[in-house]
Amino acid sequence: MSQFVVVVGDPLPAETLAALRPDRYDVRHCDGSDPRALHAALADAHALLIRSGTQVDAAALAAAPHLRVVGRAGVGLDNVEVEAATRAGVLVANAPHSNVLSVAELTVGLIITSLRKVSAAGASLRAGRWDRSSFKGTELSGKTVGIVGFGNVGKLVARRLAAFDVELLAYDPYVTSQEMALLGARRAQLGELMSGSDVVTVHLPKNPATTGLIGRRELGLAKSTLHLVNTSRGGIVDETALLEALREGRVAGAALDVFEVEPAVGSPLLDLDSVTATPHLGASTAEAQDRAGREAVEAVRGALEGAPVDHAVNAAEVVVSSRVPASVPVPVP
Ligand code: MLT
Repeated sequence: MSQFVVVVGDPLPAETLAALRPDRYDVRHCDGSDPRALHAALADAHALLIRSGTQVDAAALAAAPHLRVVGRAGVGLDNVEVEAATRAGVLVANAPHSNVLSVAELTVGLIITSLRKVSAAGASLRAGRWDRSSFKGTELSGKTVGIVGFGNVGKLVARRLAAFDVELLAYDPYVTSQEMALLGARRAQLGELMSGSDVVTVHLPKNPATTGLIGRRELGLAKSTLHLVNTSRGGIVDETALLEALREGRVAGAALDVFEVEPAVGSPLLDLDSVTATPHLGASTAEAQDRAGREAVEAVRGALEGAPVDHAVNAAEVVVSSRVPASVPVPVP
């Protein structure tokens, strides 16, 4: 009989889950986006594996009396109430480097896609039109790109943009000017970045300080030729303010991989030709999924088997063995 129950709340590659061998792990899949299904599945769970579709909140934790670890196959932890998990004695581990390259590559693709109106031109062609005059774009070379958030993804974007002969501005209160300069970027305050950039790309985690950071005031500073790209989290850019700015021609285009509410089907932003939209695909590459899945699975195995866990964000506060049910022996590593 398997020793540990592992609930998988979001789709993860079968190959990475294969490391959870059936003699030790009973792997059970559920639709983590449905709280009722999730709570029912968590009743026996020792571990939970998720991406961004599963909300691990206080209610989910209360439904999981045996839970010892949440493995997040990805970077963002905005769908996990880490403090509540800590109070419940549940270790939370993410995979902070697993998909940053994929997100950076998508960002560069979306910048060009927005500047060259690829999405609207493609839709026009599929609708039966051969229209070469409506889709005149702009080159990236010689333009100024503002990077909001100069962490792992922002830095990778800066490195890749170096090949395009652009000026780089960077806004990040936690990164030094020297670090920015090493990658060819000049430090700027947010207002200066918004008013001086031809392209602004957002690479921030979502938290109370970043929610709505790019709002009406910031968009009001932008050039009317600005293209705004967001591959980080919906809600950092105020969608109502962006919609107004796009409709009124105060901003030229936006490329959005993330939305305030996901799935974003029905968003009025999708009605605009000036918007390029993808359904939160930043991490959706074979390589990133494989890395993220493997790291999350390793975290689960480590936590359940008493081995060190990389990237456990609350390790200092949580003693994992405090939630081991009496019936489950903790193997000696
Ligand atoms: C992440 O935070 O890792 C990405 O947004 C991808 C995901 O949510 O799975």
